[in-house]
Amino acid sequence: MIKVAPSLLAANAMCFGDEIRRMADVGADLLHFDVMDGVFVPNISFGPGVAQAAAGCGLPLDVHLMIVEPHKYLEAFAKAHPAYISIHLEASTDVARDLKRIRELGVGAGLAISPDTPVEAVRLYLGQFDMLLVMSVYPGFGGQKYIDRCTDKVAEAAAMLREAGVEAEIEVDGGINAETGVCAANAGATILVAGSALYKAQDPGALCRQLQNL
Ligand code: DX5
Ligand code: ZN
Repeated sequence: MIKVAPSLLAANAMCFGDEIRRMADVGADLLHFDVMDGVFVPNISFGPGVAQAAAGCGLPLDVHLMIVEPHKYLEAFAKAHPAYISIHLEASTDVARDLKRIRELGVGAGLAISPDTPVEAVRLYLGQFDMLLVMSVYPGFGGQKYIDRCTDKVAEAAAMLREAGVEAEIEVDGGINAETGVCAANAGATILVAGSALYKAQDPGALCRQLQNL
């Protein structure tokens, strides 16, 4: 089964607690928690305090750090006891150190790559991450269109992990809906992030089950 991670970025910020519980109730697997610093990406979202509050709402957190110098904030986000913390390959000054630190904190280590970063760039870190996050939009905003060429990157990532005999989740993030989810899942995604599609769905439970069964 594919795991489904609704992105809090698409939720109504006036009632995050209810918005998270709504997704927990319909059977989502993780809460995707997008952290933006206005430097690595041209937008600002929420920080460790909100993560700790969100952690009590019924879904394991999947923290996606779109920030420079992520090593400065790993402890703060680990206090929310997330399932994963992902750092961006493009944003870290020492990827191996940061992945190791995340694992030392008892959290699954995620390595994220933006659409223009080749999959080959993660080969150096095989075995050092628990999840590879393949972005299918440019990081910074929810509600963007899925970039079709990223499907090939997911397939390439799946082949790389298989050939290396490395176990890791492959998460695809950006523009996922019932149609694009099929492409990502067929290419080898094991976790699908869906922000706008799930939070704006008439029947989020039906969409969630549809994505889980791809
Ligand atoms: C983009 C974020 C995504 C985004 C996904 O910078 O990393 O997680 O919230 O939202 P949708 O599903 O609306 O593209
Ligand atoms: Zn994200």
